[in-house]
Amino acid sequence: MELTWENLENAVRACRGCGLCERRLHTVLGEGNPHTPVLFVGEGPGRQEDEQGRPFVGPAGQLLDRMLAAISLTREMVYIANIVKCRPPGNREPTAAEAAACLPYLRAQFVLIRPKILVCLGRTAAMHILRPDIRITRERGIWVEKKGTLILPTYHPSALLRDETGQKKREAWQDLKSLREKMREMDLYPKEEKTWTQ
Ligand code: URA
Repeated sequence: MELTWENLENAVRACRGCGLCERRLHTVLGEGNPHTPVLFVGEGPGRQEDEQGRPFVGPAGQLLDRMLAAISLTREMVYIANIVKCRPPGNREPTAAEAAACLPYLRAQFVLIRPKILVCLGRTAAMHILRPDIRITRERGIWVEKKGTLILPTYHPSALLRDETGQKKREAWQDLKSLREKMREMDLYPKEEKTWTQ
């Protein structure tokens, strides 16, 4: 089958590749600008995402919006996806089998977008995209190049919402500034227009 956004959306909507399909209200493929140079990847839909069929619309998503705004980005300028496209019950971490069943969809999104930068939001994204044994507290903020894409692991916004000491928030801000710096270096901020068209 030809790889197009439409085919991908239909395939995900019809997917019964793992048990998560049994309890989902909606699949959540992702959303944003398909021509963006920056792809953000989280873990999986939560309750509100499952209800609305859109990624990062709950409290973590509101924080993500503020994080993007802090470096002059909007949701419409980036693309936001997840490791799994259906909600794990009770927001538990997706199992290895669930992630493996769903990863071809993220790979397809990656092929369609061809991002220059990929930001892993949290350990689950980083372990499936970078290394299974990644330690997010130690390795966050460290850029990794993989087949021509620059990958930045950082904390998941949900972890920042739970952060009582403020330490993780400070580190996440360092990571955001590093992302902004890299985007400037690579001339990835749009010039006159507010968004990328291709
Ligand atoms: N957390 C995630 O990892 N993804 C979402 O889409 C929402 C919350």
